[in-house]
Amino acid sequence: MSTQLTPILTKFWDDPQSWTLETYEKHDGYKALKKALGMPQADLVQMTKDSGLRGRGGAGFPTGMKWGFLPAPDGGPRYLVVNADESEPGTCKDIPLMMAAPQFLIEGVAITSYAIGCNHAFIYLRGEVVHVYRRLLRAVEEAYAKGYLGKNIMGTGFDLDVTVHAGAGAYICGEETALLDSLEGRRGQPRLKPPFPAVAGLYARPTVVNNVESIASVPPILLHGAEWFSDMGTEKSTGFGIFSLSGHVTRPGQYEAPLGITLRELLDMAGGMRGGKKLKFWTPGGSSTPLFTDEHLDTPLDFESVAAAGSMLGTRALQIFDETTCVVRAVERWTDFYAHESCGKCTPCREGTWWLKQILARLEHGEGSEEDLEKLLDICDNILGRSFCALGDGATSPITSSIQYFREEYLAHLEHGGCPFDRNASTLFA
Ligand code: NAI
Ligand code: SF4
Repeated sequence: MSTQLTPILTKFWDDPQSWTLETYEKHDGYKALKKALGMPQADLVQMTKDSGLRGRGGAGFPTGMKWGFLPAPDGGPRYLVVNADESEPGTCKDIPLMMAAPQFLIEGVAITSYAIGCNHAFIYLRGEVVHVYRRLLRAVEEAYAKGYLGKNIMGTGFDLDVTVHAGAGAYICGEETALLDSLEGRRGQPRLKPPFPAVAGLYARPTVVNNVESIASVPPILLHGAEWFSDMGTEKSTGFGIFSLSGHVTRPGQYEAPLGITLRELLDMAGGMRGGKKLKFWTPGGSSTPLFTDEHLDTPLDFESVAAAGSMLGTRALQIFDETTCVVRAVERWTDFYAHESCGKCTPCREGTWWLKQILARLEHGEGSEEDLEKLLDICDNILGRSFCALGDGATSPITSSIQYFREEYLAHLEHGGCPFDRNASTLFA
C-alpha cells in the first residue's frame, strides 16, 4: 500500500501557526472555494459522488449521495450541520483536526453550503472541548474578516453565516437526530427515521448532517479532482482517512493514509508495539466495533474488508492493547460507558446495558458463574437490532467479540476468584 499521496489534511500540523488563516492560505487555502463558486451547484454534488467519498463519522454513507437526497428548493431555508460531537471511545481525529487546521473545515463548510443551497451552517461541537470551541470561533472570525464567510462571498452574491454551537457533553448527541434536537434547544434523544434529516432535519427543514473529516476532505477533492481522490484507497472505499492509534503503541497519534492500509503498516509508522510487547486485541473503529486480534494485523482497513472479517471500519479509532491487558476489565470499562450514556429512550438499551454492566462487574471480580457468559450473550442478542439507535448495538460489540476470542480468559476469572492479571503490572490505564 502506497502512502506517498498522504498526508493531506495533516500536512502542516507541525507548523506552530498551523491553525491560522494565513498558514492555510500558504497551503492553497480557499482556492477550492474560489473554484467552487464558479461552478454549477449540481456539478459539485456530482464531483463529490464521483470521488466516492464516504462519511468519515463512522457509518461510511456516500457523502455525495446524501447531498443529492435533498428535495428540490422550495424557497425556504435548508441547512448544513457539521457533526463535531466526536465522542466514540478511542476516536480522536476530528478534535486534533479542528485544533491544528480548522480552516479545512471552514472552507469545506462554505463549499458544501454553496453546493446544497444553504445560507446558514452550524458546527455542533462536543461540549467538553472548550479549547476547540475557542479555536473554531477564532477561525470563523478570521474567515468572516477575509470575506470567505458572510455576505456576497468573493463577490459572487453567495451569502453564508456559520454558527459554532457547543453541546453539553452527552455521547448520544453525536447521533445525528439527537444532535438536531439538542441544537434546537431540547433534550438530545434520537428521532424516528424516516424522515431522514435530508428531508426533515433542523427545524423540520431539509438538512445535511456530515462529519468534520468528511467536510474537511471536500476542498482537497475540489482542488485536485474526483479522480485524484478515487485513485487512492480501494475500489469501494476510496480516498484517505485519519487513523487514530492509541494505547500500547510506541508513538500514539494521528496517521493519515489511504483506506485499505493495514494495522501492520500503521504500526510500522508508529514505531511498533510499546516496549516490544505482543499485540493482544484492538478495535478497528472505536469501542462500538467488534474487537480484532493479532489474526487481523493484515486485514485491509477499508469498509468492505473490515466487514468481511467480522467488524466495522467505524471511525478508524485503533485502540491497541498488548498482552498485559485484561480483556474482561477493558470490556467492563466500555460497558460502564455505554450504560452511563444510554439516553433511556428505549428499553433494550436502557435496561440491557445496566444488566450487562452488573454481570460484567461480578465476572471481573470472579464472583459470577459460567452461565453468566450465556446470559451476557443472550442480553446482547436482545439488544442488537432491537434498539432505537446505534448506541445499543454498539454496546454489544466488545462483549460478544471478546467472548468469541477470549472465552478462556473470562473463565480464568472464575477459576482464579478474580482477575488473573497483576493489576500493578498492567499498563492499561497508565
Ligand atoms: P446510518 O447508517 O443509519 O446513517 C448514516 C447516514 O446516512 C446518516 O446521516 C443518515 O441520515 C444517512 N442515510 C441513511 N439512509 C438514508 C436514506 N435512505 N435517506 C437519506 N439519508 C440516509 O448510521 P448512523 O446511525 O448515522 O451512524 C452510526 C455510526 O456512527 C456507527 O457505525 C459508528 O461507527 C458511528 N459513531 C461515531 C461516533 C463518533 O464519535 N464519530 C460515535 C458513535 C458512533
Ligand atoms: Fe437511547 Fe440507547 Fe435507545 Fe439509542 S439505543 S435511543 S441511546 S436508549
